Amino acid sequence: MRLLPAVLLTVLLGCDDTVFGVPSHGSGGGSTGATDSTDSGDTPSDSGDTTGDSGDTDDASYHPDGFSDPTVHGMQAKLQEQTCIACHGDTLEGVGQALSCDTCHPTGWRTDCTFCHGGAVDSTGAPPVHLSNADETDTHAFGPHMSHVAAGDLHDGFDCDSCHTKPTDVLSVGHVFVGDETPGVADVDLSGGLSAGGSWSGTSCSDLYCHGNGRRDNGSMSGQGEVTGCGDCHADLDAGRDGWDTMSGEHEDHLREGLECADCHGETSSDSRSIADTSLHVNGTVDLAWTGSVVKTGDTCNGACHGEDHDDRDWD
Ligand code: HEC
Ligand code: HEC
Ligand code: HEC
Ligand code: HEC
Ligand code: HEC
Ligand code: HEC
Repeated sequence: MRLLPAVLLTVLLGCDDTVFGVPSHGSGGGSTGATDSTDSGDTPSDSGDTTGDSGDTDDASYHPDGFSDPTVHGMQAKLQEQTCIACHGDTLEGVGQALSCDTCHPTGWRTDCTFCHGGAVDSTGAPPVHLSNADETDTHAFGPHMSHVAAGDLHDGFDCDSCHTKPTDVLSVGHVFVGDETPGVADVDLSGGLSAGGSWSGTSCSDLYCHGNGRRDNGSMSGQGEVTGCGDCHADLDAGRDGWDTMSGEHEDHLREGLECADCHGETSSDSRSIADTSLHVNGTVDLAWTGSVVKTGDTCNGACHGEDHDDRDWD
């Protein structure tokens, strides 16, 4: 029995309107909703019965030649140019002819966070490598993943959930294959981190605690920005009176008199120019550590320090 390819396709895929009107997102054609996707997901399984004796699956291929190349089908999946689950099943385990993705992928790929992105520097899944498979850091909306995710001189590592809903699997809702409303673009959600009140515009962050001066969510930062010194977020030892005036309470008085950060925040910084214990810095808490008998309760200090009585002194 000979059939024209188009007719054969129709038979194999079991319907006439979803063959070329492939359920897709993005540039690949008309976008369809979840309902359509589910409906068309059934079609290849119907067709499964009819293929047994046709013998000639090449003619019947839905995908073009070369599609099994990871740089082709992998990229289409990552950019969600087609709705893979519509035909390969809600769990990607295959429906009829549309085989399971597990057929070729290594065991564990579904929870391997560097299978599709990340991996150039560590195994967290954070770029570089980007979705495009490029590993450069400077041409993407957000360059400095590693300086956040990895522990550094200023802070411990921040996990993905500071800035994203962190998936556990490729099928996690909102991640990539299921319920993701932003094909090919990562969703940013700061609500799980220290900068819960912050926002991401697509190129920069604003209303951040982490890049603020420690008094409120008043920091902002470009997605390509770099931290250059202690004075970037709050006044530092060299800021002078105008800078110190932006800090709370009696900072300016004390710093002007020659005290240093380490005199009052000795565990966080022992030399006032570097961080001694990164777990105490940008952790959401102002850590006080000083010698002397002063006790601060609310905004009021009592006791003595640097030879001076501080009873009932206000810090506000
Ligand atoms: C015919 C074999 C085959 C099938 C079927 C298959 N893949 Fe792949 N895919 C591969 C190979 C090979 C790789 C590269 C694996 C590696 O690097 O370890 C890959 C890699 C990928 C990648 C990563 C690409 C990248 O550049 O980061 C994605 C995403 C992907 N596949 C999606 C899918 C999805 C979704 C399905 C099921 C709808 C699927 N694949 C079915 C062979 C296949
Ligand atoms: C309209 C249904 C449909 C959609 C949507 C679909 N596939 Fe397929 N896919 C099939 C069928 C049917 C096969 C079996 C071979 C064929 O017909 O090409 C298949 C086979 C494959 C293969 C094996 C290689 C090959 O060329 O046969 C890979 C890899 C694959 N699909 C990946 C994907 C990925 C990744 C997506 C999403 C980006 C996707 N498919 C979307 C129906 C679909
Ligand atoms: C099959 C490929 C694939 C695998 C495997 C994968 N991801 Fe993703 N991931 C993507 C794609 C594609 C995006 C961009 C999402 C979009 O389009 O909204 C993404 C985005 C993300 C984001 C940004 C937030 C979001 O959902 O948009 C995080 C965080 C993330 N992935 C973490 C992980 C973690 C953790 C793992 C391992 C448990 C993992 N990914 C495994 C493909 C994958
Ligand atoms: C400090 C905030 C922050 C942290 C922490 C963070 N990300 Fe992101 N991430 C972003 C921003 C911002 C984007 C850019 C979103 C956009 O394109 O609009 C992004 C984009 C991504 C992308 C898409 C990259 C691309 O090529 O478009 C992936 C994948 C991703 N993040 C994964 C992760 C993973 C995995 C982790 C944890 C190991 C993580 N991120 C931690 C802020 C963060
Ligand atoms: C990216 C912004 C940023 C940079 C850069 C920065 N800080 Fe901070 N710093 C903060 C924030 C926010 C706080 C508020 C308290 C907290 O969450 O730890 C803080 C608090 C402090 C404190 C108060 C004690 C404490 O544990 O909170 C000291 C001391 C301090 N920083 C010293 C430094 C020094 C020294 C440097 C340079 C090596 C530096 N900071 C660079 C953001 C920054
Ligand atoms: C005389 C003691 C003292 C000195 C010196 C001092 N701090 Fe503080 N710092 C405090 C107190 C007290 C607080 C308020 C803690 C609270 O609100 O619970 C504070 C709070 C902070 C905060 C949170 C934001 C704010 O303004 O309240 C930052 C950031 C900070 N200090 C950084 C520094 C840095 C950097 C230096 C050195 C340039 C420094 N401090 C020197 C006592 C001091």
